[in-house]
Amino acid sequence: MAADAPFNFVPVEASLGKCDNLLLQYFLNQFRKGYIRAGPHKVVLPVYHLNFAKALDDMEIRNEDVFVVSHPKTGTTWTQEMVWCIANDLDYEGAKQFLPERFPFLEHSSLFDYGDLLSRKPEITFPEYVTDSVKFISELPSPRFIKTHIPWELLPRQIREGTRSPKIIYVARNAKDTCVSYYHHSRLMEGYKGNFQDFCKLFLEDSLTFSPFWSHVMSFWNRRDQPNILFLKYEDMKKDLPSVIRKTADFLGKTLNDEQVETLADHLSFQNMKNNKAVNYEAVVEINKAHNLIDADGAFMRSGKVGEWKAVMTPELSDLFDHWTEKNLAGTGLAL
Ligand code: A3P
Repeated sequence: MAADAPFNFVPVEASLGKCDNLLLQYFLNQFRKGYIRAGPHKVVLPVYHLNFAKALDDMEIRNEDVFVVSHPKTGTTWTQEMVWCIANDLDYEGAKQFLPERFPFLEHSSLFDYGDLLSRKPEITFPEYVTDSVKFISELPSPRFIKTHIPWELLPRQIREGTRSPKIIYVARNAKDTCVSYYHHSRLMEGYKGNFQDFCKLFLEDSLTFSPFWSHVMSFWNRRDQPNILFLKYEDMKKDLPSVIRKTADFLGKTLNDEQVETLADHLSFQNMKNNKAVNYEAVVEINKAHNLIDADGAFMRSGKVGEWKAVMTPELSDLFDHWTEKNLAGTGLAL
């Protein structure tokens, strides 16, 4: 193992979980060369994480930093756009810049692992926020806006140890809808080749990137009363976006009048986000398709609904998720 960080990195092959065979069968490709597990909850990460794990752990955090943290597919992009617009005094002109440039993805240094892809496809050029996201972020002026899917236990050391207190907005979503969304995303953006049933097994058995789902959510739910942490739910954003906007503005120390809240809620509507090239990742999907990197169809802004799992999960599968959810939420005070 390359990285010298205190996380007990273990290759997935050396710590086989019940479903890791499915992960290795259907989810190894040009984007994913292998997997490791890290930390006390054995978080699954792509092996390329080792290339920047130490830099990430050592990263200088600033108290003015604003993080959006989430498990994949829980409304991260939606929350990022809301947070950025509020923190930047509703600068809709500035919001036309591509979201990953103004709100980069912390652990996106994936191209460390794309060497052969780069030589096979020299015509594709990648910006630094993709090739070396940790460095890119380190050099940004304050206030920095940073997206990450890393759970608390693997965040940069200064955050874990409390020597810096950046603002952290965590967004959570119902496990079944998260899984359905993650399945489509994995096919469209990351080359997963298995079927939906196997993907659900991987999700339930904590064998997908950024699994385990529940320890991820709990690592922030259990810290929700810290003054620098705001815990949001996708379902609340769907039910009453203006209230969530007000709550987030309050957390960020901003005041918005009713008209501003209404305008922002409109900017953040699913339809407007779906049509907004700055946030809809259309360009990434197009590059993947144009270069035959992916053969699945669809859009990043897929359906944006609560309860879509009902259309695709059998009653048996739904029961499995319900029992799993009940078991993990018992006594936590969280309903999701
Ligand atoms: P679906 O796949 O269920 O449609 P993330 O940003 O964490 O990857 O999450 C993506 C999910 O959030 C997708 O869910 C996407 O459609 C949904 N989403 C993004 N913007 C949204 C919006 N404005 N309203 C509702 N859902 C939104």
